[in-house]
Amino acid sequence: MKKITIAIDGFSSTGKSTVAKQIAKHLGYVYIDSGAMYRAVTYFAMSKGFINEKGFDVEGLISKLDNITVSFKFNKNLGFAEVYLNGINIEKEIRTLEVSNFVSKVSAIPQVRQQLVKQQQKMGEEKEIVMDGRDIGTVVFPNAELKLFMTASAKTRALRRYDELKAKGDHVSYEDVLKNVEERDYLDSTRKDSPLYKANEAIEIDNSNMSLDEQFSTILKLVNSVLNQD
Ligand code: DC
Repeated sequence: MKKITIAIDGFSSTGKSTVAKQIAKHLGYVYIDSGAMYRAVTYFAMSKGFINEKGFDVEGLISKLDNITVSFKFNKNLGFAEVYLNGINIEKEIRTLEVSNFVSKVSAIPQVRQQLVKQQQKMGEEKEIVMDGRDIGTVVFPNAELKLFMTASAKTRALRRYDELKAKGDHVSYEDVLKNVEERDYLDSTRKDSPLYKANEAIEIDNSNMSLDEQFSTILKLVNSVLNQD
């Protein structure tokens, strides 16, 4: 069977990780959530006091980048790989609105990106990988056999993220979540280093009005057509 790389990019909360996990499971591929890696570095920066409401000590964070090891370990019960920072599971800690509020600033730092992109490319050396993020089809795996670009309206995405956070017991308002979604859309697509944009050959999927089943079967058809190409 042909081995391929699947790159899934798009704005926040477009359902990239949900479908990426489904496709990876179906194919027996590795799934990597590259956003979790940027969130892990952000969590590190927050816990060391390099970033807070008052400011961001960029040089301080850069000087400590070599002390950060981000890794993934597959959790059989959950059916996906959880993220670890220096050997400690931080899967829950990185999903808060507080981390979401700082992550675009941290991920705009070129030194942070260089370090994480290098690790991501290493993870994909053997192909058979589904990775989602913002620059996967444009920078990390420009030769990926299948590139998808997921979109949905900001309001639809904010509602999805709000429901997720509420279900976890977080006390957040829909307005704050929408503000975060819109701010990150702006910062992620206007930053200098590796901004989010749709690669020419990427296939755009607007899932605003798609059920999860519809989304999965639409994408699986695309995957199969690439797998069946000579
Ligand atoms: O996918 P996510 O919302 O968990 O990603 C969190 C942030 O990380 C996102 O706002 C921008 C950044 N990111 C990035 O710059 N490049 C990636 N490949 C993935 C995420």
